Amino acid sequence: LSTVEVDVSSLEPGMSLTVKWRGKPVFIRNRTEREIEEAKEVPLSDLKDPEARNENLPAGSPATDVDRSAGEAKENWIVMIGSCTHLGCIPLGQAGDFGGWFCPCHGSHYDTAGRIRKGPAPQNLAIPLYAFTSDTVIRIG
Ligand code: FES
Repeated sequence: LSTVEVDVSSLEPGMSLTVKWRGKPVFIRNRTEREIEEAKEVPLSDLKDPEARNENLPAGSPATDVDRSAGEAKENWIVMIGSCTHLGCIPLGQAGDFGGWFCPCHGSHYDTAGRIRKGPAPQNLAIPLYAFTSDTVIRIG
C-alpha cells in the first residue's frame, strides 16, 4: 500500500507506536510538554544537521522543533521514518543521551525531535509525507 491510515486516539502524551509503511517502520509519538520544551531549547547552531528533513515542508527548511513536528497546533506529534540515517538500523525510542532515540548499531543519539545530536549518523530522522485526516487519524504517504 502506498498510504496507511493510523488511529492515534489511544496515544496519551509520552506514548508512541510504530507502523509499517512501504516496508519501513514509521515512528509516531505523542510527545510530552517536557520533551517539546527540551527540543525547543536547543539552538540551531548546536545541530549537526540544521535541515528539517520534513517532506511536508520546502527542502532546506530549518530543523526547528515546530518544523520537525506536525506543526504549531499539533507540535506534540512527531512522525518519522524509523531508520537510522547512518546505515539503516532501527533506533530505540526514549533512549540515548538526549532522551529521544538511540541507534545501538554504532551509537547515534537523536533528540526528542528526532534530530541527530551525537554519533555517526549524518542526518536527522526523515519525516515522510503525512497529514491528519481527523483529530485522531494520521494518513502516511
Ligand atoms: Fe545507526 Fe550506524 S546504523 S549508528
